[in-house]
Amino acid sequence: MFKQGGVILTLLGIIFRRPAALVGAIMFALLFPILLLSVFIDLQGGIENPYFSLFIYLILGPLSILALVLLAVGLIRVNRQGLGEHYTYEFFKEQLTNPEQSRRIRRLVYNATFFISLFLLFLGVVAYSGHSFTDSSRFCGTFCHTVMEPEYVTFKNSPHSQVSCVACHIEQNAQGVTKAKFTGMKQLYATFFNTYERPLQTPLQSLRPTRQICEQCHRPEKFHGHKLTFIDTFLPDEDNSHMQTTMLLKIGSGGYQGHAPHGIHWHISEQHQLYYQATDAKQQKIIRVELKEADGTSTIYHKQGVTAAERATEYMMDCLDCHNRPTHIFLAPDAALDKKIHAGRIPAELPYIKQQALAAISRPYADAESARLQIARQLRQWYDSHYPELSAAQGPLLEKAISGAQQAYSENVFPEMNIHWQSSYQSYIGHQNDTGCFRCHNGTLVSDDGKVISRDCDLCHVILAENVPAKSITEMMQSIPR
Ligand code: HEC
Ligand code: HEC
Ligand code: HEC
Ligand code: HEC
Ligand code: HEC
Repeated sequence: MFKQGGVILTLLGIIFRRPAALVGAIMFALLFPILLLSVFIDLQGGIENPYFSLFIYLILGPLSILALVLLAVGLIRVNRQGLGEHYTYEFFKEQLTNPEQSRRIRRLVYNATFFISLFLLFLGVVAYSGHSFTDSSRFCGTFCHTVMEPEYVTFKNSPHSQVSCVACHIEQNAQGVTKAKFTGMKQLYATFFNTYERPLQTPLQSLRPTRQICEQCHRPEKFHGHKLTFIDTFLPDEDNSHMQTTMLLKIGSGGYQGHAPHGIHWHISEQHQLYYQATDAKQQKIIRVELKEADGTSTIYHKQGVTAAERATEYMMDCLDCHNRPTHIFLAPDAALDKKIHAGRIPAELPYIKQQALAAISRPYADAESARLQIARQLRQWYDSHYPELSAAQGPLLEKAISGAQQAYSENVFPEMNIHWQSSYQSYIGHQNDTGCFRCHNGTLVSDDGKVISRDCDLCHVILAENVPAKSITEMMQSIPR
């Protein structure tokens, strides 16, 4: 007799005879209900904890699949060992010609198909949710908390805080996603066994060439003209005097629809490509630059005084050679405080707050918590001894300043990852410490016919006023006739 119940019993009998199948079946029976319940809770958004999601999608999910694989392997091995002799072609032919039996078999096939489809659908949901979860900024930024904290904190404070990590870090195609999951496993391993570098190393070659990534959202070939820029700073005097630098930045364009490429975004035109050779991994020491025009001609600039024998690696210039810190922006202590004072997080009315906060946050601290406590203690002590009347009457002002200074520190310094004030990640967008643009625009890269990559101060910006009291710029703006 070919009964449904009979089949299940036979199956159970086989499972009990094969250790692999038995282990698989027990694992599955235990794990599957938990998986089902957890996925249900997660899809409802019940628990907002990355470890919970990780537990479901990277542990429970794969273990359930492993259980099924064990089960299948056990069964297949049985089949090889003689089961095939029982369920032969003749056997099925005989069963199917009997109408009563074939009705039963059909029902069995329908039921099995229904349950298997339901199960596959469920697996699809688990796999998809697992994929989305491991792609989320929350997972990337918080799962390996200490390791990613610097990047996550700077990301959240950046103009890209609404862009997901994967939009920049992972090429959006099957190849990119697969590669990312594999490197992700490697990183998980490095985190687990504590073998990662502190700080993490850049440049990340996997991000290059970046034009496709950034140009999903930005089209610099369509930029044009100059941009009026203000830089607000505060002096370390009693009044925390507000100063400003104002300039026109020659943003320019990569050239489009008949417009010639010009200004700062001239570098990334369709009409030419720039290559450079650097002798160090950080790509700071540039000894050769080649400008290749679309018509095949090229201009080569050599660093003067460098022998041809020096080993160098060639790179194609793209967005990241200037925008290497579009998101993970680590500021110097001075600039970090200027931002906080300008935003009102640190009250400028508090005498000498710029000077004192700068002294407090610039010291080296062992960890984030002791930095927090000591910054507060130092500022309180200083105001107690120098402005006793103030710290009593205007306590809230001082408390606000303390919290602003602590933030300036904690948004830029991560002692656990060995990231101290700007020592690790420098921005190339200007020419701080003679890097950035000045890696090439330093007057020492010269072509055979004597052309120099210029460091003329008016090449990239027109400085309208430099470090003047902010009031005078406000007055200047107000005096412009409308
Ligand atoms: C707007 C694009 C963008 C976004 C969004 C972004 N990154 Fe980055 N990330 C970069 C660039 C550019 C670099 C530096 C690349 C270089 O110089 O090689 C970088 C570098 C890193 C590094 C290497 C260490 C370092 O600071 O240089 C890590 C780790 C990192 N990002 C993690 C993240 C995480 C986690 C998120 C989301 C919370 C994220 N990134 C979001 C563009 C982005
Ligand atoms: C998924 C879309 C997206 C991607 C990809 C992206 N950006 Fe952005 N970018 C934005 C948004 C949104 C803003 C904020 C615009 C605003 O605030 O006006 C922004 C702002 C900027 C700014 C202006 C920052 C400022 O201070 O005003 C720069 C520069 C920039 N992005 C460069 C880059 C670079 C370089 C890349 C590639 C590594 C990149 N972006 C990738 C969406 C994106
Ligand atoms: C030669 C250096 C350089 C290259 C290459 C470069 N940029 Fe810029 N870009 C700048 C500078 C300098 C600014 C203005 C400073 C700022 O906004 O911080 C700027 C400004 C921007 C802005 C803000 C524009 C605005 O009006 O506020 C965006 C967006 C941007 N770049 C995107 C890109 C993208 C995308 C690429 C690559 C396709 C790219 N840039 C290549 C130097 C460069
Ligand atoms: C890898 C080398 C390199 C780097 C880095 C670089 N440039 Fe250039 N830049 C060049 C070369 C080469 C030229 C063309 C010089 C010439 O035509 O003689 C150029 C030309 C320019 C021009 C003139 C474009 C025109 O209108 O013809 C501007 C403006 C400019 N760069 C701005 C910048 C800024 C701003 C930065 C930094 C954010 C920067 N460059 C970084 C190589 C570089
Ligand atoms: C190759 C392009 C380029 C050249 C050449 C250049 N600059 Fe700049 N400069 C920049 C860019 C880009 C910035 C950054 C703007 C920003 O912060 O967004 C900048 C910023 C500045 C600032 C404001 C920075 C601050 O934080 O106070 C000053 C001042 C300045 N430049 C002066 C000069 C002087 C003086 C020269 C001539 C020796 C010069 N620059 C040559 C591109 C250039």
